[in-house]
Amino acid sequence: MSKINIPKLQKLKQSGEKLAMVTCYDATFARLIDSTDIEVVLVGDSLGMVIQGQKTTLPVTLEEMIYHTRAVARGLTKPLLVADMPFLSYQASLSEAIKNAGQLLKKGHAESVKIEGGEEVGELVAKLTKIGVPVMGHIGLQPQSIHKYGGYKIQGRSLSDEKRLIKEAKVLAEAGCWSLVLEGIPIEVAQKITRSVAIPTIGIASGPHCDGQVLVIYDLLGMDPKFRPRFVKPYADLGKIIPEALQRYQGEIKSGHFPTEEHSFHRDLTLLKRPKSSAS
Ligand code: KIV
Repeated sequence: MSKINIPKLQKLKQSGEKLAMVTCYDATFARLIDSTDIEVVLVGDSLGMVIQGQKTTLPVTLEEMIYHTRAVARGLTKPLLVADMPFLSYQASLSEAIKNAGQLLKKGHAESVKIEGGEEVGELVAKLTKIGVPVMGHIGLQPQSIHKYGGYKIQGRSLSDEKRLIKEAKVLAEAGCWSLVLEGIPIEVAQKITRSVAIPTIGIASGPHCDGQVLVIYDLLGMDPKFRPRFVKPYADLGKIIPEALQRYQGEIKSGHFPTEEHSFHRDLTLLKRPKSSAS
């Protein structure tokens, strides 16, 4: 796969090919993603929950987003890199929002920012797009507004909410968003939104009719056996595999099976043997 850019991603919608996006927070996972055909990597403010162990995404700062985005950028050569604008980095004023978005590109090496919000962020999207900062929108369940909803709840179930979401999608596309995350939206509504805009929609907990899909990488790798919401399909069982490996490591230290001479350095380097793989 060659380097992915926004025009290429927009052509996928025209040709009917689906787009794959995943979150990432560090260089090691970034390198692993880079070895696949996944097109878009999102440094999500979900890092507040999965990296920092916070209850919501609200405490995440711009500096933390820049730090993680820069680390991910070092591991990527092909996918498009998108960084979330965290809570209160874009709501206070237009000029502050523009500077903060710029920092994610300048210092984090992101190629696009993602902004949660509907019509209220339309003016900001238009300004950013005009000065060359690509914007991915994010409507439906907006985790930064969690206290307004009173929980992580599906949005757009009533007819009036459906109409509002379709209008928000059109306003954001018109303002210049190059794509739109649809989070926690009923299948039928996500399908209508996808049909009503020319830009790609990327779903999470919004059914199969979006132009692409995104999941939090730790969820799709099954890292937390206690967190298996309905919309997540775990493609691996790392929540089981990792503790098993750690337990084997602990056991071999106690029993003296690790390290052996094979894992050690002799004064005479000619005696060094490569350790056998201990993955099994
Ligand atoms: O922060 C995040 O990871 C996200 C995705 C789940 C869309 O916004």
